[in-house]
Amino acid sequence: MEKPKKHIFVCCSFRTSGEPKGVCNKKDAPALVQYLDTEVNDRGMNDVMVSTTGCLKVCEKGPIMVVYPEGVWYGNVDEGAVDEILDAMENGEIAEKFVIMK
Ligand code: FES
Repeated sequence: MEKPKKHIFVCCSFRTSGEPKGVCNKKDAPALVQYLDTEVNDRGMNDVMVSTTGCLKVCEKGPIMVVYPEGVWYGNVDEGAVDEILDAMENGEIAEKFVIMK
């Protein structure tokens, strides 16, 4: 495997026990990860890796997606937001309307 140029983290609320509990999980983050993975593959974004995380401590704004190396945090992410965020990434831009921290 080559080192990815970009890494997208999606909060799935996993606890250290591995148990998925929490706000983002309840807001269907796992289904969002599947959608994101499919979109990344369909778009041929081979240099992008998608990973799930435990709670990122901004639950009230979940589901949360963080993109590195830019360090941009997106909140209230749904499938439409994923589309716009990936469009922006492909253009070397940031989807400002979903940004909660950068
Ligand atoms: S459960 Fe996702 S930020 Fe807390």
